[in-house]
Formats: sequence, structure tokens, C-alpha cells
Amino acid sequence: MAKIDRVTVDKILDATNIVDVVSDFVSLKKRGSSYLGLCPFHNERTPSFSVSPSRGIFKCFSCGKAGTAVSFLMDLESMNYTEALKWLARKYNIEIKERELTSEEKEADAARERMFAVNEFALRYFEETLADTEDGRAIGLSYFRERGISDAMIKRFHLGYAQDRPDDLYKKAIAAGFTERHLVETGLAIKTERGTLYDRFKGRVIYPVHSLSGRVVAFGGRTLRKEKTVAKYVNSPESLIYSKSRELYGMYQARTAIAKKKDCILVEGYMDVISMHQAGVENVVASSGTSLTDGQIRMIKRFADSVTLIYDSDAAGIKASLRGINMLIAAGLSLRVVLLPEGDDPDSFAQNHSSGEVEAYIEEHRQDLIGFKVDVLMKDAGSDPRARTEAINDILQTIAIIPDVVEQSLYLDECARKVGVDVSALSAQLKRFVAKNAETAYNRRQADKARESISDIAGSASSQRSSADGIPPVEPPVDMAGEKELKSPPVQSAQSVHVSRAVYLAEEEVIRYVLRRGLLYMCDVLRHDDDKELVPMSVVDYVEYEFRFDNITFSHEPFAEIWRQTLWLRDNAWPAEWAARERELLERRATALALGQEDIRARGVDMDTIDKLEKALVERLDKEFNAGVDEFASSFVRRHLLRSDNRELTDLVARLTSDSVVLSRMYPKVDPRADACRKLPLAVNTLKSVLLKEELQCITAELGKPHGEDEIMELMIRYRKLKEISMEFDKFTGEIVIMP
Ligand code: UTP
Ligand code: MN
Repeated sequence: MAKIDRVTVDKILDATNIVDVVSDFVSLKKRGSSYLGLCPFHNERTPSFSVSPSRGIFKCFSCGKAGTAVSFLMDLESMNYTEALKWLARKYNIEIKERELTSEEKEADAARERMFAVNEFALRYFEETLADTEDGRAIGLSYFRERGISDAMIKRFHLGYAQDRPDDLYKKAIAAGFTERHLVETGLAIKTERGTLYDRFKGRVIYPVHSLSGRVVAFGGRTLRKEKTVAKYVNSPESLIYSKSRELYGMYQARTAIAKKKDCILVEGYMDVISMHQAGVENVVASSGTSLTDGQIRMIKRFADSVTLIYDSDAAGIKASLRGINMLIAAGLSLRVVLLPEGDDPDSFAQNHSSGEVEAYIEEHRQDLIGFKVDVLMKDAGSDPRARTEAINDILQTIAIIPDVVEQSLYLDECARKVGVDVSALSAQLKRFVAKNAETAYNRRQADKARESISDIAGSASSQRSSADGIPPVEPPVDMAGEKELKSPPVQSAQSVHVSRAVYLAEEEVIRYVLRRGLLYMCDVLRHDDDKELVPMSVVDYVEYEFRFDNITFSHEPFAEIWRQTLWLRDNAWPAEWAARERELLERRATALALGQEDIRARGVDMDTIDKLEKALVERLDKEFNAGVDEFASSFVRRHLLRSDNRELTDLVARLTSDSVVLSRMYPKVDPRADACRKLPLAVNTLKSVLLKEELQCITAELGKPHGEDEIMELMIRYRKLKEISMEFDKFTGEIVIMP
């Protein structure tokens, strides 16, 4: 895959509206100038995921995740950078002109691309084999027909068949130019220890697994043999493009129906999904026989408020699955259960009833989960008091997880009634469970926070780029004791420089100004070579000036990187872009002025009024012009940085430039100039003061060690001098703080 050239990238990013993009995956509601929805990156019940169309960024105020439309796609759909851009290009009908890649770029992108391509190739092979070969029709197709699957469903789910020959697909794929490596990595081919290769799915009917965005990430193959020794299903292994715990079979085909009904029906198998679809019930997905993962639940939550579980009346199966559903409840989904008639599974039931009947049965036999659980467990416990107590506790534990307290008390009532125990007795026990859950959750949050702040400070970019985007995190170099020779020198990552929490926070405050105000005019200063001339200074200039004066810079590497790029942008990109923008603004002003004057004169009032009106017009246009200038200047740096192809950078910039939606609506709009002038010096001085204090601490530590007399003297002098400055700073920052 070739890389997209910069001009096209800019064209794509220009066309991109983040609200559009996010809306394809999350339902958003307008809230002030931004949009709010449920965060797709973590489980939540109240929306804290905010999208700002004007800034082109999203941020979740609960889990802290932030980024651009591009990073949104990369994380949510596990695309790489180029894939995300291509996705956007398709969405906005932009033609991509590709340039050749450097060899490293090729290697980096190629693997995933080729794996998708190989899967596409295999999909076509399976489908064609089913439709166009003698064996395919005689074995595969007649199997599906026997099971009552219509041609429409075969097409919709892209069902297929693999020839029962050792390496039919393998050979064809190689002949088509695919490599052994990608066939093995996708799992389509299996390499034996002797080095021979054979097709994993040979002789099986094929169920392709699509990702939410419709790409084929895996296959399931069902054997048509009856022997018990043959595995009924084989599935693609986990790979760079497939993580079993993040997909749900049928989600791609079901997503629209689920979103419409706000309910997701959960079944076990491929066939269940397909037969239900065929019976007209389309909001169905399969967990493929395992219990749901966090990621799968999140995916469901993006489209649905409730989950309907369909059980066959096999009691053992029900009890087993009842254990796995607390997570769904905790996610705030309401759970309902439909019990099928004796002897039916969803597949057979759907096959034996008309589509209206299936729908009607589900509607009529829907039962809330708690009631259902009470029935099942209490019946099981019989009259043995110990077993009954255990069952009741089990039920109360489930009720304790329900996030909504009103719902909780309703279920408690229902439970008490059904069991025949006094509500107050159950209520006391429930409170105990709720308290325990809260404590566990609190502890976990604290642990998370501690971990986060550590990784934040260390700026561990590799841990942020977690497996969430399908790329395994880079293993940190392991210091192996006993291994004498290092193969290569350890990489001294700039990010591993230790930065204290205080410095980090102080630097963050300053870098926020850089990103939010950028090249906005801030103040005039006297040129230091001849102090007659005043030079205008932007926020960035001011920070640079202050830093240079005291010879400091950002020590947290991600901030330092932003800062380096900012200075580069100011010196290289800004002059030309600013000139063009200024010309545009001036032209706009001139045109508006001409039109306005014409309009005023056309009204033919007396000269005095004309004068007044013209003055007002000029004033208004000046204000507009200034606002245009300020907007352009203050957004310049972040606009460029948000377009970087460095994911860590764009996400950090997004995080730092998004402010709390809540706060920004509560406070009156502050004039950006005044705001920048008032508080930035405080931020810069706070940073300096923090650095000073750290240096003072260092000196104190040095003084505690044995030193020569002269050295001690020198340290003492230095200490006293720094201490004085530090106190000055405290006075200064203190003064500013109490100023209105
Ligand atoms: P089922 O055995 O109920 O599958 O397993 P099914 O789809 O209803 O298949 P039919 O009706 O017998 O043709 C449920 C799901 O569990 C997974 C598959 O995803 C299957 O759809 N499974 C089952 C496996 O992955 N491997 C197995 O050996 C069995
Ligand atoms: Mn079945």
C-alpha cells in the first residue's frame, strides 16, 4: 500500500467533519457548541464523550481518551493511519493519489494490508467454491439448503465452502501472488512441523466474521462429518487483524436493526444468527459460545439499551450462562430473557415458525432477568434452607450490580415477593453487597489512577498505543541479568527522563497556553538590543522569550516535542500562511465595507446619520477582522499539530486543547487576549518556581554529602541566591493569584 501524499491528506482532513465520523459509530446529541454521547472506549451509562466540531477533536471526560477523527477510527476500528485516511477519503469521495513508499513504510503497513487482502481473496474463493464448483454445490450448498438457509442469507452472510483437498486454497492464493507468511498469519493455512502447508478450513462450510465496519477479519468453518473425533468448528486464530474478544458474529449485519430497536438479541451460534435473520428478526448477534468480554459489551452498548438472551430450555446451559451476565448488568444494559419451548434452539425455532410468529413469541415470552433468575435458582434450591440462602445471596448480588437505584429497589421488591421473604431482611443484605462493590470499584479506580499518573509522567507512549488499535505494544527492553553481551546499546529514550509530578503539571499548564493561544498576539516588549522599539509578541514568543531568559525548556518529552514543532511551525509555516490569511481577511473587509457604504448611501439620509452609520460599520468590520486574526493565530499551532501523523502527538494535543464542556458553558466568555495576558505569566512563573524549588532540594541533598570546604561554600552561596529568587517568585505568583 502506498502512502498518501500530503496534499491529499490535507484535502481529506479538510473535508472531514468529526461529528459525521463519530456519528457513524456513536449516537450523538447536540449540547451547546459540541456533541455528547456514550463513550465507545469504556462502559458508561451517562454520556461524557464530547465531540467538538469546531476543533475537530473528541474527548471523553470520564476515561480521558481524546483525539482526532483519525485517531478515533484508528482506535475504535483498529485501522492504521493510512487505513483511517482511506476510510475518510471514501466517505467524502476524495480521490487518493498515492506515492511509492519507502521500504520501511512498506514493511510497516504491508502486513495488515496483505492480511486483509488475503482474507478477501479467501472469501471470494469460499463463495465461488460454494456457488460454482461441483463439490461446492453438491456438498456445501446442499448442506445449507438442508438446513433451510435461503440464497438471500447465503449472500448476506457471505457463506461459503472450502474444497476438501489439502491445499486447494493455499495453492490458488500463492498463484495469485499472496505469500506463505500472510496465509499462515491469517490462519488460512497451517504449517506442520515438517514444513508442509495445508488449508485450515478444507472440507468445511464457511462463516466469515465481519468487523463492525464490514471487513472480513476471520472465518469459522463447520465440518460436515458426523465423527466425534473431528472438531465441529475451526475458527481463525487471533492475529494482527483479529481479536476474538472484540468481535461479535453478525454485528455487521445486525447493527442497523439493533440501533433501531435499541435491543440486541444474543444467541450462541452462527446458525442461530442466520436463521433468525431469515425469520425477519435482524437484531441478533452471537457470542460464539463463550461469555461476553468487556469490549463486546461496549460494542453492544453503542447501539442498544437492552439485551435479550434467548435460551433453550436446557437447564444446565442456563445456569452456566447466568454466571456470565453480571457484566452486562453492570454496564447498565437491561437484561431480558426468552425461554424457548422444550427441544428448540433459536435456529430450529426460527426455522419452524413463520417470521411473524418468531417476533411474537419473543415479545410475549420476554421476562426480566432477575425474575427469571429467581425462578431458576429457587426451583433448584428446593426447600433446603442452606441452598435457598445461597440462591438468594446470588440473586441479591446481581441486583446489587444494577446501576440504577430505582430499578434496584423495584427488583428487590419483586425478589422478596417471589421468594416470600421480608423486604427489609433482603434490603440489609443488599446494602452490604452494594457497599462491597463500591469499595472494590473505588480501589480499582485508585489503582488505575496511580498507574495512569505514573505512565503519564513517564510519557509512556507505547503503553497508550495499546493493543486497542490492533498493534501489539512494543515490549520494553528487558534487562536480563546474567546476559553479558548486549546485542545493541539500550535505547536511551528521551521519555524515560524522570520528571516530577510538580514539574509535569507546571509544564502542562504552559503547554496548554501554547496549544490554545498559539500565535495570538499577547503583548509588546522592548527589543533588548535597543530598547526603544516595541515588538509585538505572541503567546509562543512570550514563552520562548521567558524560557530563553532563564535558560529552561520542557523536560517532559512529549511537551518538548510539541514545543519543538511549535517553534518550527512559527518559523516556517506561519509567515506564508499568515500572509495569505491576512490578505483574505483584508479583502473580505474591503468588500464588506464597500457593500455597506453603498447600502448606507442608498438609504439617502442626511450626512450626519451617514457618518454615524459608516463609523459603526467600520467599527463592526474592524472587530470582525480582529476576531478573524485572533482565531487564525490562536488556532494555528494546534491546527497543524492535530494533523500530524504521529498518533501520540495528536491525541495529546487533543487532550490538552479540549476544555471541559461543563466549565466552558458556566463561565462568561473571556476575551482571549486578556485571558492569555493575565494568566500565562503566572503559569510560566509557576513552572520556574517549581524548577527552582527542585534545584534547591538538589543543593540541600548535596550539602548532606561530604564535600570540600570550598564546594560547601559555593553550594551555600548558590542556595541562598536561589532561595531569594524563589521567595520573590512566591510573592509574585502569590500576588497574581489573589488578583481578580
Ligand atoms: P453450536 O454447536 O450450537 O453451533 O455452537 P451452531 O452454530 O448452532 O451450529 P450447528 O447448528 O450445529 O450447525 C455455538 C457456537 O459455538 C462456537 C461456534 O461459534 C458456534 O456457532 N463453537 C462451537 C466453536 O467455535 N467450536 C466448536 O467446536 C463448537
Ligand atoms: Mn445449532
